[in-house]
Amino acid sequence: MSKVVSNQKNENQEEEVLLNSLRVKAWSEFRGQENIKESLRIAISAAKKRKEPLEHILFYGPPGLGKTTLSHLVAKEMGVNIKITSGPAIERAGDLASILTNLEKGDVLFIDEIHRLNKVVEETLYPAMEDYCLDIIVGKGPSARTLRLDLPHFTIIGATTRAGLLSGPLRDRFGVVHRFNFYDAKDLEEIIEKASKTLSVPIDKESIKEIAKRARGTPRIALKLLKRARDFAQVKGKGNVEKNIIDNALKMLQIDELGLNDIDRKLIFSIIEKHNGGPVGVETIASTISEDVLTIEDVIEPYLLQIGFLKRTSRGRVATKAAYKHVNIGHPEEKKQGKLL
Ligand SMILES: Nc1ncnc2c1ncn2[C@@H]1O[C@H](COP(=O)(O)OP(=O)(O)O)[C@@H](O)[C@H]1O
Ligand SMILES: [Mg+2]
Repeated sequence: MSKVVSNQKNENQEEEVLLNSLRVKAWSEFRGQENIKESLRIAISAAKKRKEPLEHILFYGPPGLGKTTLSHLVAKEMGVNIKITSGPAIERAGDLASILTNLEKGDVLFIDEIHRLNKVVEETLYPAMEDYCLDIIVGKGPSARTLRLDLPHFTIIGATTRAGLLSGPLRDRFGVVHRFNFYDAKDLEEIIEKASKTLSVPIDKESIKEIAKRARGTPRIALKLLKRARDFAQVKGKGNVEKNIIDNALKMLQIDELGLNDIDRKLIFSIIEKHNGGPVGVETIASTISEDVLTIEDVIEPYLLQIGFLKRTSRGRVATKAAYKHVNIGHPEEKKQGKLL
C-alpha cells in the first residue's frame, strides 16, 4: 500500500518538475487569454508610469489554465520580487504579519487558493490591502493595546478556483479581477508545439492537433498528455509521437476522443441512468459517484458545462442531448418520438 502511495507521489513530483521546466518564462510566450493580457498590460504600464505598485489582482478559474504562471509574469513585467504563499499556509495573523513586513515596496505577494484563508487572517488582511497597515495586539488583558504597523506598498495577486467562495469584503479589495477561460484548439496547439520543442519530442502536426483536441481546453492537461505520449512513443514505438501512438496511449488512460476521462463519464452516466437525466443536486451526484462536491464543482463540471454536456438549473444539473449521444444512450425525447413514428 505504502509503495503505491509513494509511487504516486514520485509520479506527481516528476510531473511537477516537468511542468516547471515547461513553465512559460516570458510574457510573449504566454498564449491566449488575450483580454486578460491586454488589460494587465495597460495596468502595468500605467502603474510604471506613475511609479506606483500595481493594484491588487484576483485571478479565478479552473485549475491548469495559467493563473500561477501569469502571476509570475506580472511580477516580472513590473520588475519586482514575487513571494509565494497559499491560503491554507497562512495559519495565524502572526504568519501574515511576518510575510507582509518582509516585503519591499512594489513586491507581489502571490496567495494561491486564497478562498482558503481563515477568517482571522482574512480580517487582518483587509487593512493591509486597503491602507497598507497592520493592527497588531500587544500584551494581554487590561494592558493589551493595539499597535499600528505601517507596511510597504505591495500588490497581492490572489488565485482561486472558486471566486464564489470569497467573502464580499475580500473580493471588493481587488482592483482588478479576471476570470480565466478554457483555451481554444489553436492556442493549445501552439502551447504543445512549443513544449515539444523544449522537450525535444519529435511530433507531427496531426498529433499536436489530436492532443489539443483531447486536452479539455487546459494547458496543464495538454502538457501532461504530451508527456504521456512521449513515454508511450519511447517504449512502444520508435520515439516519434504519431497519431496512432496518441490513440493507444490515451486509450490506456481511458481518455476518449473528446478528452473526457473515466470520472467525467461516470458523472454523465450517473445523471442519466441513476437520476433520469436530472435535474439532480450536486451533493447527490457526489455521493453516487463517490467524489467530493468541491472536486465536482471545481475540476470536473466546468468543462462539461463548457462543451454543453451539462446544464445548471435552479433544481440541479441536467444532462443534455449531446451528453446522451456521447455515451450512446437514447435521449428520452428521441425515444418518445421514435415510438410515435
Ligand atoms: N497561456 C499559456 N501559455 C503557455 N503555457 C501555459 C499557459 N497557461 C498555462 N501554461 C502552462 O500550463 C501549466 C499549468 O499552469 P499554471 O499556471 O500552473 O495553472 P493554474 O495556476 O491556473 O492552475 C504550466 O506549466 C504553464 O506553463
Ligand atoms: Mg496555480
